[in-house]
Amino acid sequence: MSQWRDALRATPMRLTLRLVALFLLVSTVSFLVTWWLANEALLSATENVLEQEIEELSASGDPKTIARAVADGAQQADPEHQILRYDGPGGPVGNYLGPLPGEKLRQVDLHDKGQDINGSYILLSERVGDALLTVGQDTEAFNDLREVFVNVLLFTLLPTAVLLLAGGMVIGLRSARRLNAIEDTLERLTSGDLTARLPVTPGPPDDLSRVGAGIDRLASAQEASVAALKQVSTDIAHDLRTPIQRLALVLDQGATDLPDGPAQEVFTRASAEIQHISTTFDALLRIAQIEGGGRGPHFVPVDLGQLARDIAELYDPAAQESGHQIDLQVSGKTIVQGDRTLLGQAIVNLLENALHHSPPGTVTLAVEDRTLSVSDHGPGIPETEREAVLRRLYRLDRSRNTPGSGLGLSLVAAIVQRHRAELILTDNHPGLRATIRFGGGN
Ligand SMILES: Nc1ncnc2c1ncn2[C@@H]1O[C@H](COP(=O)(O)OP(=O)(O)OP(=O)(O)O)[C@@H](O)[C@H]1O
Ligand SMILES: [Mg+2]
Repeated sequence: MSQWRDALRATPMRLTLRLVALFLLVSTVSFLVTWWLANEALLSATENVLEQEIEELSASGDPKTIARAVADGAQQADPEHQILRYDGPGGPVGNYLGPLPGEKLRQVDLHDKGQDINGSYILLSERVGDALLTVGQDTEAFNDLREVFVNVLLFTLLPTAVLLLAGGMVIGLRSARRLNAIEDTLERLTSGDLTARLPVTPGPPDDLSRVGAGIDRLASAQEASVAALKQVSTDIAHDLRTPIQRLALVLDQGATDLPDGPAQEVFTRASAEIQHISTTFDALLRIAQIEGGGRGPHFVPVDLGQLARDIAELYDPAAQESGHQIDLQVSGKTIVQGDRTLLGQAIVNLLENALHHSPPGTVTLAVEDRTLSVSDHGPGIPETEREAVLRRLYRLDRSRNTPGSGLGLSLVAAIVQRHRAELILTDNHPGLRATIRFGGGN
């Protein structure tokens, strides 16, 4: 259905519809003009015949002879096809004696049951002396002409319009399909899958395939530059990780070896800071790695309910320590295609947020209908901040003094995106509800 809607919106389809409308308009006008001309020609030919008939009947100029000729002719004529009448001094004679509206050439409907006259006739009346001589013909020739034109309309014009429309539909549908492919590729590229390319279209290249080739070239260039950037960041990470770890060791050593006092205190603080730097650094690298990767080769069917059960069990002691209870609600079996470790990491991050950012109480971990959610009864996240907290290193003002780097939700967002799922933060009245919804095709 939507395919047809797309096809109707496609430029070739619109052009075709306009051309068909123009063709129909031009053809109808020329058809009507031809019909009118043919009708006029037939009328003038009929007038000539009738004029000649009048001339022949009135050749003698004597009313009695004319009346006789008309009476004879009327007797032989078939009143269904031919009318003859003379309104002379001796009264009207002929095969139609009813009322005669008007004079000159005209088309009139005549009715005379006694004479078998019932229908349309072309009549010509002319004055001969004081009398009026009228001859007429039925309109069968005109009916035949109309029939010919109706047939032309039915068997040439209509099929042509239908064929044109069908052809336009096919072309429109084809180009809509190609535009959809371009749109899909662009969507995949925007959502981070830089390997996406347009399918090859058979046939000679046209404007759409040129646009497609341009998109492919752009994607290849983007893929190459992202790969180069990734390489640089990995190199920096490798180069920096070891000195940072060495520095952490030195500071740790200092903090343990030094006697109690201001110097030892500085070393302990510095050691904690470098630990924080190291974790932040690792988390940033991990997010970049997850965002950079496409749909991983490690994707396997993952039982979300089982995963949630394992994590709830693992985190139960930590939850109890902070005064929380984890309420696990798993209904039905939800299997998704994914990376088990990454999905586990996402659930852990959401659970840790609920434990760290909400006061003691119940934290619900629920899995049902291809969705997983973690809800708490804490202060929640204001609606205006729900997009910002997904950014790297972003933390709400009130969390400035609690431990953390502001990377947990960014990591969840990256993992969710990699699984082509959706992360939705909503109000739990009160508290936060974080939901991961997996698509049907996941
Ligand atoms: N369940 C929650 N309730 C209230 N606020 C939350 C909740 N989860 C996250 N937040 C707010 O969103 C911010 C960002 O969360 P995020 O998980 O990204 O970072 P973090 O928890 O502060 O640090 P990290 O997860 O890196 O240790 C938090 O600092 C906090 O202000
Ligand atoms: Mg967190």
